[in-house]
Amino acid sequence: MTEFVCNPGGRISGQIRVPGDKSISHRSIILASIAEGVSHITGFLQGEDSLNTIKAFQQMGVPIQRNQDQVTVTGVGLHGLHQPAADLDVGNSGTAMRLLLGLLAGQKFDARLTGDSSLSTRPMRRVIDPLELMGAVIESESDGRAPLQVRGGQALTAIEYDMPVASAQVKSCLLLAGLYARGVTIVHEPAPTRDHSERMLRGFGCAVKSGNGEIRLPGEQALTACDIDVPADISSAAFFMVAASIADAGKITLQHVGVNPTRTGVIDILRLMGADIEILNRREIGGEPVADISLRSARLKGIEIPERLVPLAIDEFPVLFVAAACATGVTRLSGAEELRVKESDRIQVMADGLAILGIETEVKPDGIIIQGSKIGGGTVESRGDHRIAMAFSVASLAATDEICVKDCANVNTSFPGFAGLAQKTGIRISINEG
Ligand code: S3P
Repeated sequence: MTEFVCNPGGRISGQIRVPGDKSISHRSIILASIAEGVSHITGFLQGEDSLNTIKAFQQMGVPIQRNQDQVTVTGVGLHGLHQPAADLDVGNSGTAMRLLLGLLAGQKFDARLTGDSSLSTRPMRRVIDPLELMGAVIESESDGRAPLQVRGGQALTAIEYDMPVASAQVKSCLLLAGLYARGVTIVHEPAPTRDHSERMLRGFGCAVKSGNGEIRLPGEQALTACDIDVPADISSAAFFMVAASIADAGKITLQHVGVNPTRTGVIDILRLMGADIEILNRREIGGEPVADISLRSARLKGIEIPERLVPLAIDEFPVLFVAAACATGVTRLSGAEELRVKESDRIQVMADGLAILGIETEVKPDGIIIQGSKIGGGTVESRGDHRIAMAFSVASLAATDEICVKDCANVNTSFPGFAGLAQKTGIRISINEG
């Protein structure tokens, strides 16, 4: 059982580049695999989640070579995937399972998707239901949970779908199925969600129209190979944004971070809390906005988090709760029920850990109220959730005593090398492989 032991206090400094964006890394493998020609990917996230996605496509006969963060994919075309000889195990990754389900729904062959114990409890009805409307045949273990068996050889028909939840995974799943469907797939989103799929599909030469909460994709389009430079993941950078803000002193620069406006809710929320953030060298690389982000220590204050920012910061709430715990006053979050069905129930697991550290919270069905005060020490459970493990490690910068975080092995799903990089910047963290 991997645990992080974090001594209290510390200054934060340095210029770092965190690993590649997880969402973009998954999508780069998926689209390059079904494109015509050879795609070169740089900056690929070498985390367990995205490596599992490579493995899944290799199992379906796609030649993929990887040298560290450089990946070469020889696309097999829209109809060139082969039936895998074994289950496709996507580990901890909801993104891989939901996106692959959409892709597999349109194949000629059967396939079975499996995941770890956390993923096997997460809701898949949100993708199974609309895929069935398109004509897909999917059998789930119990009540729409993985393992999922996809029956191939179905003729899919495009649908127009109003998503009940603002989810980029559901949207992307339907767009991938839509590539194999007759007609124009139309998805309406209740609020803007990350648009990496739309941007990358365009990069691969697909006609995708989006605007006013609607995405349209004509089916049966061929994709043409395309080179992809994956920016650093803003969701991983977020740990250092909060670290620099709550530390006693210091400054950090985060290099080459993806600042797609559908992902920058964390910057907006931290700024509302009084964080000192500078965005430098804005540029566009391969259809995605990228920048360097500089932060200095600041006095944070509690706020009411605007609900419109929730989908734009959905993965950053564990560490934003730590920022709220360090802030003066009360922070209120609502409209965030989706946090309960992530890698863990992020509202409850964070509230439990914060309580151990002496922070008062009130848990709501769709959010939390956090009373900022002094963070103490103690042993907290991450429940195997990578982002919770990293969030509590960051909390140590403002703590009065040692914080020990349990069950941290899954940090490798999204941020391999987190502890080493955190140490380098000044977080007093060590790994105990118990
Ligand atoms: C993701 C979408 C989000 C996010 C997840 C990655 C994606 O999930 O939480 O970590 O890559 O599309 P939802 O679509 O369920 O909100």
